[in-house]
Parts: sequence; C-alpha cells; structure tokens
Amino acid sequence: MSYAQEYQRSLTDPEGFWREKAELLPWFEFPKTILDQDPNGAWRWFRGGKMNSCWLALDRHVEAGRGEQNALIYDSPVTSQIRKYTYSELTERVSRVAGALQGLGVGKGDRVIVYMPMVPEAAIAMLACARLGAIHSVVFGGFAAPELATRIDDAKPKVILSASCGIEFANVIPYQPMVREAILLASHKPEHNVVLQRDQCIAVLDNERDLEWTQWEAKAKSVGCTEVDATDPLYILYTSGTTGKPKGVVRDNGGHAVALNYSMSAIYGVDAGDVFWAASDVGWVVGHSYIVYAPLFKGCTSILFEGKPVRTPDAGVFWRVIEDHKVNCFFVAPTAYRAVKKEDPDCKLQKRYDISSLRYQFVAGERLDPATYHWLRKHLDVPVIDHWWQTETGWSMCANMAGIELMECKPGSPTLPVPGYDLRILDESGREVGPGREGSVVIKEPLPPSAFTTIWGDHDRYIEAYWSKFKGFYLTGDEGYRDEDGYVYIMGRIDDVINVAGHRLSTGQMEEVIANHPAVAECTVVGISDEGKGQVPLGLLLLKDGVNIEDDELERELVQMVRQGVGAFANFKRAVVVKRLPKTRSGKILRQVLRKMIDGEAYVVPSTIDDPGVLPEIEGILRQRSVMGAR
Ligand code: COA
Ligand code: AMP
Repeated sequence: MSYAQEYQRSLTDPEGFWREKAELLPWFEFPKTILDQDPNGAWRWFRGGKMNSCWLALDRHVEAGRGEQNALIYDSPVTSQIRKYTYSELTERVSRVAGALQGLGVGKGDRVIVYMPMVPEAAIAMLACARLGAIHSVVFGGFAAPELATRIDDAKPKVILSASCGIEFANVIPYQPMVREAILLASHKPEHNVVLQRDQCIAVLDNERDLEWTQWEAKAKSVGCTEVDATDPLYILYTSGTTGKPKGVVRDNGGHAVALNYSMSAIYGVDAGDVFWAASDVGWVVGHSYIVYAPLFKGCTSILFEGKPVRTPDAGVFWRVIEDHKVNCFFVAPTAYRAVKKEDPDCKLQKRYDISSLRYQFVAGERLDPATYHWLRKHLDVPVIDHWWQTETGWSMCANMAGIELMECKPGSPTLPVPGYDLRILDESGREVGPGREGSVVIKEPLPPSAFTTIWGDHDRYIEAYWSKFKGFYLTGDEGYRDEDGYVYIMGRIDDVINVAGHRLSTGQMEEVIANHPAVAECTVVGISDEGKGQVPLGLLLLKDGVNIEDDELERELVQMVRQGVGAFANFKRAVVVKRLPKTRSGKILRQVLRKMIDGEAYVVPSTIDDPGVLPEIEGILRQRSVMGAR
C-alpha cells in the first residue's frame, strides 16, 4: 500500500483502520468499541479491551519463544559497563520488582514516581508499575527539587523509586539530597522511597521511608500481570506548558500499545528481532515510547544508553554503540549530532567502526536544521529522517514512513502527516491557509490512539489549553506551513515553551524562580537561538527602585537560582537588566517580538504596543552586554 492510500484510509475510515492495527496485538479481551467519547467529551479508543502493557512488552514474547533474545542492552560508557537482559531475564526482574511494589501496598491506579538516571532499573520500574496496573510518573533526573516537589504534589505517589546518583560526563550527581528536599517541600508525603545504590555514590538511608533497592527486590516474590482496561491510565508524564505549573499528560494503555506497535513497522521500518536505539532519557516522552515500550511491544532489542554524544569518551561513541550492538535503527535529537559535528567535523572517528547494520537514522525533539541534515547525509549511507512529535501524542505526527513508502526527504521538513493525523494550518481566525503560508499547526479531532485523554486532575486545563482556541481542532502549540506538495515545516512554538537541547521548558517556570529574587521587580524569559542547543533562555529584568546591585553579581545569583529551582539542563546563563519591557497597552509582554528581534528575524511591531521606542532601547542594551551582535 502507498503512503497516500494508507493515510487516506486512516482519515476516511478511522475505526476500520485502527481496528485492523489493534488486531495485530494479542488482547486478553478484544475491545468492544473502537472509538467513542467519554462523558467529558474526550475521544477514547478501544473501550472494553482487556489487556496489560507489561504482558504485551515481555511475557507474551517469552511465551512465544523469544525468551532467549536480548530485550534490553544497557550500555554505560560513564560506568564502563554493558549489561544484557534477555526477554526471560527482564520478565523475571520486572515481576519481582512488581511483587516488591505490591508488598508496599501499590496496586491498580496507584501512582509511583520514578526519579532515576539511565539505568536498567528505570525501565524495570516502569514496566513493574504497568504489570500491576499502577500509574508511573517518571521525572527527568535533571529536574531540581522544587520541580520534583510540584510533581509529587500533583501525582500524589505512594512510592518514589530513585537512585543514589546520576552521572553526567565524569560528574556524580547525588539524587537523595534532592529527593529529601522535594519531600520536605511537598505537602503530599510518599510512604516509601526505594533507593538503588550505585557504586559511584552510596546514599545514607536513615529516613524511615527509605528502603534499599537490592534487598527490597531480593525479598520479593514474582507476581503476574493485572488485567486492566484499555482506557485505564498507564502513565502520567509532566510536560512544560505556558504557565510555570507543568501539565500531567495522561496516556492510556490500549491506544498507546496499538499506536506504538504500528509505528515500529510503519514509521521506523523495523520488525521483531531488530535492534532499536533511541538515545534519549527515560524522563522524556521519547524515552518512554522508544527506549521502553515500543521496541518491547514489537519484540526488538532496545538499547538503554547512559552516556553523551561526546566526551564519553569521544565523539565516536554513537558509531561504537552501533557497531557493538548491531543497531538497525537509531533515533536521536539533532542537538546531539551538532555536538558530534563540533568535535569531529569530518566524522573521522566513524571510520574506526563498522556501522553497516544501520538502516535508518531518525531525528526529533527539535527542528532538524538544514546544516545538520546535510552533514548527516554526507556521512551516513542511510535515509536521514526528521519526524515531529510531542509528549501529548506519544508518537510521531509527521514523518517519512520508512516502513510504508519512503518519500523524498526535503531539508527542514519532517515530511508528511502520519496516518491518523488530520493536520491543518489555520490562521488566527481559524481559516485554513494555503501552501507556503504560516499559521497554527492543528489536528482535526479525533486524535489517533496514544494521544493523551486528559491532564491529570485538571480536565478543564486540557480543554482550555488544547481545544478551546479552534473548535474541533487540537492546538499543537507549534507554528508552521505546508509546501505545494503538502510537506509540513514546523517553525517553532507560538506559546511560551522553548526547546533547549531537545528539552522542552517553560519560560514561565523560570520567570517564577527569578521573580523571587529580592532585587527583581519584573522579568521575562525568552528563548533565543543558539548554535549548539537550538535555543537557550535569556532573562530580561526590571529592578526594584533603589536597588543597588552589580549586573554581573545579579546574573550570577539568578543563574544559581534557576539551577536550583528548575535544573542545570535549563541552561539559564544570561540575565540582563533593562529599563523597560515591551508591552501592549493592556500590559502583555511582547515575548515573540523580543525573541525575533534578538534572533535578527523580521518582526512586525504590533499596533497595540505601548511604546515602540522600547525595542531599540533594549537592542542597544543587549549589544552592550554582548547578547546581540557577538553571537
Ligand atoms: N541530570 C543532572 N544534570 C543534568 C542532566 C541530568 N539528567 N542532564 C543535563 N544536566 C546538566 C548537565 O550536567 C549540565 O550541567 P553543568 O551546567 O553543571 O555543566 C547542564 O545540565 C546542561 O546540560 P546540557 O544542556 O545537556 O549540556 P552539556 O554540555 O552537559 O551536554 C550535549 C551537551 C549535547 C552532550 C547534551 O545536551 C545532549 O546529550 N543532548 C541531547 C539531549 C537529548 O537527547 N534530548 C532529546 C530528548 S527527546
Ligand atoms: P516534547 O513534548 O518535549 O516532545 O516537545 C515537543 C515540541 O518539540 C514540539 O511541539 C515542537 O515544538 C518540538 N519538536 C519536536 N520534534 C520536532 C521536529 N522534528 N521538528 C520541529 N520541532 C520539533
């Protein structure tokens, strides 16, 4: 079948299309309804289906004779370890951890926070929750204590699963001080904190809620899979929104399994037995979907990599891992390849390795800039495929469908909408725009399986943030256009979300932290372009009257505050004092105009601006402070 036929069918007969895809998976009981709406009006897939996501990922493969195949390969250049787990071994570990969680009173519907570095136990923890029908909420290890506390208060977990430390290049980052501070800050107090001790840093476990992982797991009995409904939640994953409060994206079991299983063959062109590597982190949606669930649903071998593209030990590590584990499909953020390109511009290190197993190179998480695309095309003998997606959908919305029909790749475009996504570009008034014209990228309802069905504990926000601007359309928050051939180009966010090294961050989150500084009267954070990281945040500040503080000292203090309040990965490094901020007459700060001005893009000064003289004034200050011009 051609891409065009597959795509058309998904839109004209969504129920027939997705019934077929659902039939590719074994269910405990096949769904009674393929698509309907819940009492909140949210679209739901596969109601009445009985299943278990952990069983689909593990046990059924063992039962089908795949027990001796590697399910997970942990490759950790930062600890010089490689550990391999067959499907049988992984099933055994997961069943035991599930038993241990059950021993702590965790059952169906209970929440468990997983705050862990890139170790196999992170994936084991997620699958163990799924086994019990418990809801995991993985928090990226780079988040500082206040962010962890916000998530504890929102998800109200019974248990936290954590580790003694993470490792960033050669730096050991102790986790327990952050877990303790977060529990102190949070109003909700989890009953238990299970800590995986790592040789690089042994945590002191003196709190009554602390348990040591190895003993805790060793004492437990293996348990089987709890049957859940397809519409029961599998996980909550917090993501940045317009305000400082993160949104708990809720993903259900059935739609997730069907869509991810389909994506492996249709998008990534892989099959059971293939080796799949997504070099992301389990704390992000890419890690959830393509390190843990999708490769295992499909019966692939998944690589869990605890390292960096460079300096672990060098810019040849990607090629080394591809050779060592015979990777067939590799997925990474463009920022990682920009780091490789900077250290090894002619890709000389690649020549030391045999990467002939590789069939596809996928990239996502941020726009694949044409320069990086051309560099990859020059140095890789395989298709380089940009694809566009979000935490909210859990899988790709636009891609070149390698498993169906490989289309021409156009630099700067993630190609065409994936089956199931009726993508449109709308102008401010909700009218569809023609080729070449930029607008809001939206998806006509219903979203396909795997898309989120609510925001944890806040369905009103789900409606308000995503469904209220254009009736019947899901607002992706991205702007972009389509060309004459329908190819989609994603140009950036229309809201206050920024993308730093493939990490999604809210500028509001940082503004809340900065506003706590006693010298700051008002501030705004904008994402400005950066050669390596795509974007980095820049703070613009108004000081309180009478405050006397050196600009450099204030900048240093604010950098520390954001590191401790949000996390070092936010890369907040510059804060500049200005005299005024550009605002509309109603007081709204013109962030997008500021961003475009700083990035040297064309911008229109809105007629509602309070004082047009503010922009050149800020430009002058930023030039003086070497934010503009020097970049
Ligand atoms: N835990 C604790 N700290 C973390 C962290 C984590 N999981 N991840 C990042 N940080 C810290 C880093 O140690 C660094 O701290 P420092 O300022 O004290 O040096 C800071 O956050 C900034 O990190 P980063 O932006 O990652 O820059 P870097 O120079 O350390 O590394 C790259 C550069 C390119 C190697 C790195 O950004 C990278 O691997 N990017 C790819 C990310 C990715 O895959 N994103 C896609 C998600 S889908
Ligand atoms: P996240 O939810 O963290 O996956 O971030 C999703 C956002 O990252 C999207 O809304 C886009 O702004 C951006 N993004 C992800 N993939 C791409 C891509 N291939 N091209 C352009 N932007 C992307």
